[in-house]
Amino acid sequence: MTAPIELRDASVVLGDRTVWSHGTFELPEGSLTAVIGPNGSGKTTLLKMLLGLLPPSSGSVQVFDAPPERGNTRIGYVPQHYTDHVGNAVRCRDLVRLGVSGTRWGLRTRASERADADAALAAVGAADYADRRLSQLSGGQQQRVAIAQALVGRPDLLLLDEPLANLDLRNQREVVDLLGQLSAHGVTVMVVVHDLNPLLPHLDGAVYLLDGHAHYGPVAEVVDAELLTHLYGTQVKVVRTAQGDLFTRGA
Ligand SMILES: Nc1ncnc2c1ncn2[C@@H]1O[C@H](COP(=O)(O)OP(=O)(O)OP(=O)(O)O)[C@@H](O)[C@H]1O
Ligand SMILES: [Mg+2]
Repeated sequence: MTAPIELRDASVVLGDRTVWSHGTFELPEGSLTAVIGPNGSGKTTLLKMLLGLLPPSSGSVQVFDAPPERGNTRIGYVPQHYTDHVGNAVRCRDLVRLGVSGTRWGLRTRASERADADAALAAVGAADYADRRLSQLSGGQQQRVAIAQALVGRPDLLLLDEPLANLDLRNQREVVDLLGQLSAHGVTVMVVVHDLNPLLPHLDGAVYLLDGHAHYGPVAEVVDAELLTHLYGTQVKVVRTAQGDLFTRGA
């Protein structure tokens, strides 16, 4: 079987500027991949390309063996600025229900949609605020609802744009563990982050956007002081503890 995501020498142009080029990589089914790179390097642009919202300007991009197309129900998406996309006034349960795909799983009843929405909210630990409006939640709680909406259609590919940005350490860990469980069940997960540390227990590799090129490396290659220092333009240290943990941090 071929990879869920396959890029061959892909590049993307916005306006008159090439955001990145030479994107050549395959992500295997069930892998958990980080997308890293400085602000403006084209991480969100990569996700939008996989969603069929932006065409590659050269090369080829395949998602499940076909060029990306809008509205692919096999993909769940958590946008970078979720509330900008959906507005604030909607009840969480109703929002999550919007993510239920009626076509893929046969005809749905309102009761089964509601049950699916409640199950997705419970999976991300957001059941307690199912009846609240998005405007009544904290940033981290909103982030959980966004993930629930992306999960409720039972996607085979999950694209998340900085889902950890508003979360405290405990909540980061819970979301990361959830992503790890999904990938262990065969869901291919791609997650934009600025800090690799929280993902390390589950991470298979990373797409890194460096010097205008899109590279891919397995985790052992990417968690490298020289590479991360170059990538972020500030000194990064990699520390291996006796337990085998890895930390990257400013020196
Ligand atoms: N519509 C547009 N027209 C022209 N350039 C754009 C457009 N949208 C984004 N860009 C530029 O494309 C580049 C990549 O943007 P993108 O949002 O993908 O970056 P990013 O890596 O997600 O950054 P961040 O970490 O800040 O979220 C940026 O330099 C941005 O200024
Ligand atoms: Mg972005």
